[in-house]
Amino acid sequence: MSDPTRPKGPKIVAIANQKGGVGKTTTTINLGAALAEAGLRVLIVDLDPQGNASTGLGVELEDREFTTYDLLIGEVDLDHVIQDTESQNLKIIPATVDLSSADIELISNEKRSFLLHDALRQAAMGVFAFDFVLIDCPPSLNLLTVNAMVAANSVLVPLQSEFFALEGLSQLMLTIREIRQTANPDLRIEGIVLTMYDGRNRLSQQVERDARDNLGDLVFKTIIPRNVRVSEAPSFSMPVIEYEPHSKGAEAYRDLASELVSNQTGVAAQ
Ligand SMILES: Nc1ncnc2c1ncn2[C@@H]1O[C@H](COP(=O)(O)OP(=O)(O)O)[C@@H](O)[C@H]1O
Ligand SMILES: [Mg+2]
Repeated sequence: MSDPTRPKGPKIVAIANQKGGVGKTTTTINLGAALAEAGLRVLIVDLDPQGNASTGLGVELEDREFTTYDLLIGEVDLDHVIQDTESQNLKIIPATVDLSSADIELISNEKRSFLLHDALRQAAMGVFAFDFVLIDCPPSLNLLTVNAMVAANSVLVPLQSEFFALEGLSQLMLTIREIRQTANPDLRIEGIVLTMYDGRNRLSQQVERDARDNLGDLVFKTIIPRNVRVSEAPSFSMPVIEYEPHSKGAEAYRDLASELVSNQTGVAAQ
C-alpha cells in the first residue's frame, strides 16, 4: 500500500553506498544531466559535506549561501536553497562542510530522520514540478544517509568494478530493510549500477559476473565504463554530457537515464 503522506510528486532517488570513491557523485551529476537533457526536470540534493556535486556542477563556495544544512535544520525554506545550474532543467541544493556537524547537532531532535523527507514536501516542491530528485549521499550509513532513504522512493547503488566491490553491500541492504521496517515501508531498491568498468580487465568482468549471479535483475543492464572524460568533466564544472557529449561515459549515462525512466514506468504501472 502506498503511503498517503506521499502525494504524487517527483520520483526521489537516493544514490547511496557507504564506500567512498565508487561513483556516487559522478552518477548523481551525470544521471541528473542526462535526465535533464531528455527534457525532465531534475533536482540534485547534495547531501555530502564534501560538496563534490555542488563543485562539479559549478556552484562556487562563495555562492553557497544557503545549503542542505540550512534546509535540514529548518533555517530556510526550500525555494531559498534551490539554485540553477548551467544545464537547463537541472537544479541543485548545494552543500558545504557545515553538513558534517548535522549528525551530532540533530541527535536530540525527535524528527531527525525525517528532516529531508519533510523539507522535500514543502509547497514549493509543487511549484518547481520536478520529475526527479537525486540525492547524493555521503560515504557512510549515518544520519544523513538515513534522511535520504527516508525521503526517497528508491535507492540506486553505484558499485565500483573493483576488488571487494560487493563487500559492504549486505550492510547497505540491511540498512534499507531497517528503514523499510520503520520509517519508509515503500522504499525500493532502484538498482545497482556497475561503475568504472574496464572491459579489458578480468577483474571488472568478474565483478560483473558476481554481481549478476548474486543480485540478478537488481543490476542495471547499463554499465558505466571507466572513461577519462568522466573524471575530467568536474574540473570544468560540467557534467560529461556537456563537456564531451559523445564520449563513452556520456553515452552510458544517457542509457542509464533511459533505463531509470523505464523502471519508473514499471513502478507506476503496478
Ligand atoms: N566512469 C568513470 N570513469 C573514470 N573516472 C571515474 C568514473 N566514475 C567516477 N570516476 C572518478 O572516480 C572518483 C570517485 O568518484 P565519485 O563519483 O566522487 O565517488 P563517490 O561519490 O562515491 O565518492 C572521482 O575522481 C571520479 O572522477
Ligand atoms: Mg561523493
